[in-house]
Amino acid sequence: MEVLEAYAKEITKKLDGALPYETVCKLIEKPKFQEQGDLAFPCFSLAKSLRKAPTVIAEDLASKIQSELFEHVDANGPYVNCFLNKKTVSKNVLETILTECDHYGSLDIGKGEKITLDLSSPNIAKPFSMGHLRSTVIGNSLANIVEKCGYQPVRINHLGDWGTQFGKLIVAYMRWGSDAIVKQNPIKELLSLYVKFHDEAESKPELEDEARLWFKKLEDGDEEATLLWKWFRDESLKEFSKIYELLDIHFDSYNGEAFYNDKMDNTIKLLSEQNLLSTSEGAEVVGLEEYNLPPCLIKKSDGATLYATRDLTAALYRQNNYRFKKALYVVGHEQSLHFKQIFLVLEKLGYEWAKEMVHIPFGFILKDGKKMSTRKGKIVLLEEVIRDAIDLAHKNIEEKNPTLANKDEVAKMVGVGSIIFHDLKNDRLNNVEFSLEEMLKFEGTTGPYVQYTHARACSILRKSGSGETLNPIGLTDAHSWSVIKLLMEFPTIIERSLSSYEPSQIAKYLLELSQEFNKYYSHVKILIEDEEMNTRLAVVKAVTTVLKEGLRLLGIKAPEEM
Ligand code: ARG
Repeated sequence: MEVLEAYAKEITKKLDGALPYETVCKLIEKPKFQEQGDLAFPCFSLAKSLRKAPTVIAEDLASKIQSELFEHVDANGPYVNCFLNKKTVSKNVLETILTECDHYGSLDIGKGEKITLDLSSPNIAKPFSMGHLRSTVIGNSLANIVEKCGYQPVRINHLGDWGTQFGKLIVAYMRWGSDAIVKQNPIKELLSLYVKFHDEAESKPELEDEARLWFKKLEDGDEEATLLWKWFRDESLKEFSKIYELLDIHFDSYNGEAFYNDKMDNTIKLLSEQNLLSTSEGAEVVGLEEYNLPPCLIKKSDGATLYATRDLTAALYRQNNYRFKKALYVVGHEQSLHFKQIFLVLEKLGYEWAKEMVHIPFGFILKDGKKMSTRKGKIVLLEEVIRDAIDLAHKNIEEKNPTLANKDEVAKMVGVGSIIFHDLKNDRLNNVEFSLEEMLKFEGTTGPYVQYTHARACSILRKSGSGETLNPIGLTDAHSWSVIKLLMEFPTIIERSLSSYEPSQIAKYLLELSQEFNKYYSHVKILIEDEEMNTRLAVVKAVTTVLKEGLRLLGIKAPEEM
């Protein structure tokens, strides 16, 4: 049940065609102060067409609107303020949540159409960076959100597994590498081989030529080169999958850059058939001067293809293969120009669907105000960071609840959840300051706080032994009403997080709901046997349902005890 829609319908009807329903919906506001009611409709925009003062229009509307959902509707200056009928509405909201359970808030905006999400996409033979963590976590949550809205998400890990750096790595490995050492600690060893290559190449430039040669061999399918490349890739993937397992994030496709190696000729053919290619300093490019952008590089003077060529090819392949309605690219904001160029080149090729491609940028993760780097000496190994969080969560639990049965499992949910929540609670374009201590607090704006609230609510339900037979009659007191109004907003929050591609909308909402619920819990005696106890328990049940589902959308688990 959507009271906003009901209110909008009433107003549209009474306005008799002066405004379409959708506009009315958009105009309706949620007043900041309780005295101004639960919903308010401003009449300014009607003054011209109705040739009446907004205050007069408001008076007129207020006197006409009626519904069992509304207690009373008053004109307040140019506003029509609606006070909901708490008893009816709260009964409705609770009943809806209790019947729909974790489907509550599901929307049918997507109608089963596909959305591809390009997320995570780390680079082979390099450490999994903090930026890749953000892409993984934001992308996974967006995939959950689009699914909740009726789309079919396709999670694609566009691995950075191709490019001239593999020529360098092959040369370095052949000269200085060892099979056993790489196997022992692949990422670290491959990285130091890569670093060694650059150090050595400063005095021996012929190494660069050798590397180019080996990459060329790789592109041409040379057996030895391919074998080594495959091995680097497998070893790297083994490492990455440890992180994915800890985060419990899965992909529908691991088609990375290498996958498009044999498909790029076709892209170049398409571009040249439409006369979009020009030569600039020996390289083939698509000019974008009409958009005031630098040209998009397609082919280097030595014939090698580029990152952009592979992304164009990937887009064509994905449209063909998935027929996506939308294609989202969850990649740091430093690649904004790249994606602008790719989307425009596809538009120049005449593809309507290029307009449905969206780059979803995000900020950096900072440590003490500086970008957390994975380069050279000071690499932060993400797997260690996650394990630290889990250990710390374990310690916290040990202190708070030493008799908890499945501590290891819960510590994992809390440790991982704290990292994810810490990332997602801020608008994604903001930088995130990384602090394990901060993110693991059980109080404040943290994941563990929301999880803890959920667990507390679960424990009330366990104590009550109420099972599934809750029959809400509706509640009218202020504390219940604050919680119920928030519960009612969940579907709107989901819709907003979809349209702005902001999981933070959900994270912020969960914090608010937790705070409101904890207030409720400290003011209201829930387990006192009276005729409203059943309804209070329904509130508790509804809160657990929404907290759990909201956390799930963020990619976080909700333990029932912690
Ligand atoms: N591997 C790239 C990087 O680490 C990110 C790839 C993003 N996806 C894409 N389709 N370009 O910078």
